[in-house]
Parts: sequence; structure tokens; C-alpha cells
Amino acid sequence: MLVLPKGLRHIPGHLDREQQASLVEDIRAVVRQAPLYRPEMPRSGKPLSVRMTNCGELGWVADKRGYRYQERHPVTDAPWPSIPARLIDIWMDLTGESRPPQACLVNFYDETAKMGLHQDRDERNLSSPVLSVSLGDACLFRFGGTERRQPTRSFRLESGDIVILGGESRLAFHGVDRIYPATSTLLKDGGRINLTLRRVDP
Ligand code: SIN
Ligand code: MN
Repeated sequence: MLVLPKGLRHIPGHLDREQQASLVEDIRAVVRQAPLYRPEMPRSGKPLSVRMTNCGELGWVADKRGYRYQERHPVTDAPWPSIPARLIDIWMDLTGESRPPQACLVNFYDETAKMGLHQDRDERNLSSPVLSVSLGDACLFRFGGTERRQPTRSFRLESGDIVILGGESRLAFHGVDRIYPATSTLLKDGGRINLTLRRVDP
């Protein structure tokens, strides 16, 4: 049995295949309006391996100037499309929050992409949880404590899984070590989509 730190919830297989396929259609519609782009690391300007876009009133962006939430797509300058209703339903069902999410970050990982260990702390609201949905190829997800030097552990996330970082784990370090190529047939060209729902304002 894997014992997770307090406030970290992993719900394997929460979404069945049909729900996953419907969500992929929703995300395709989002990406048609708000194309995936490659964000850059602050200062160095080095591109991340993950491509990103957002939906919701606010979107999370990274560029040479830093990390922040903003109302517009950094390349097209258009407002972000709204969050698909079925994602809002998942948030309302699982988080116990009375208000809907304000931001949904869409991460796309090809088979070589990964995400270094980090905390989600650009939100002014750190009391609402972060809810993430995995679609497509499996990945190795790593998490630790609220300080970088604390030990970490990892587990596999499959298509349809949900992870919630809340309570004492809201600021837990986490990242994606690797993608397992060709472990899902959900996305016709392979890869992994991660959707991260958050409230930004208190
Ligand atoms: C993230 O921390 O932004 C993404 C986590 C994931 O891809 O599962
Ligand atoms: Mn994160």
C-alpha cells in the first residue's frame, strides 16, 4: 500500500474511457481557440519540454519575466476560452469547494517531455486545492514534502486518474519524471495531456 502525505489524493481510474474521450474532444476545441505554445524558463529563457495552453478567466504563463496568471494568451493575445463544463463538474464533485475553478492549465507531454520538481505557489489562494486530470500515456509522477530537501516518492499516473493536492499537501513539491510511450490509445498520436484546475483569487 502506498501511503500518501496528508491532503494528497490519488483517485485511479476516476474517469472511464467514454468520459476521457469526451474530455479530449473538449480540449481539442480549447486548443483550436488557444493553440499550444512552448513556455520559457524565467531568466534563462530556456524552453520547457512541455507545451501549454489554458482555459478559464486566468491562465498560467511562464516566460523570461517570470511565472504569473494573466487573462490573455501570450502568443495570440486573445482571452482564454472558457473551462469545459464537464471539468467544472469534476472540480465541484471532488473538491468540496463552493466556487468553480478560475484557471485550467493544459499541459501536453510528448514522449520525451518531463516536468521538474516544483511547488504550485503562484496563486493568491493557497487554501483551495489543485486538481489534476491525466489523459493519454501514463507517466511517473513524483511528489515530496513542502521543502525541496525532503524525501520524494513516485507513482504511476494512468489515463483517467485524478490527483488532488490539498490541505497539508497543497504546497507539496511534485513533478513528472517520465512519460511511458504507447501505454494508452486515447490520443491517436500518443503523448499525455494533464489538466490542472485551480482557484487563483482568495
Ligand atoms: C503540473 O504540475 O503542472 C503538472 C503535473 C502533471 O503533469 O501531472
Ligand atoms: Mn504543478
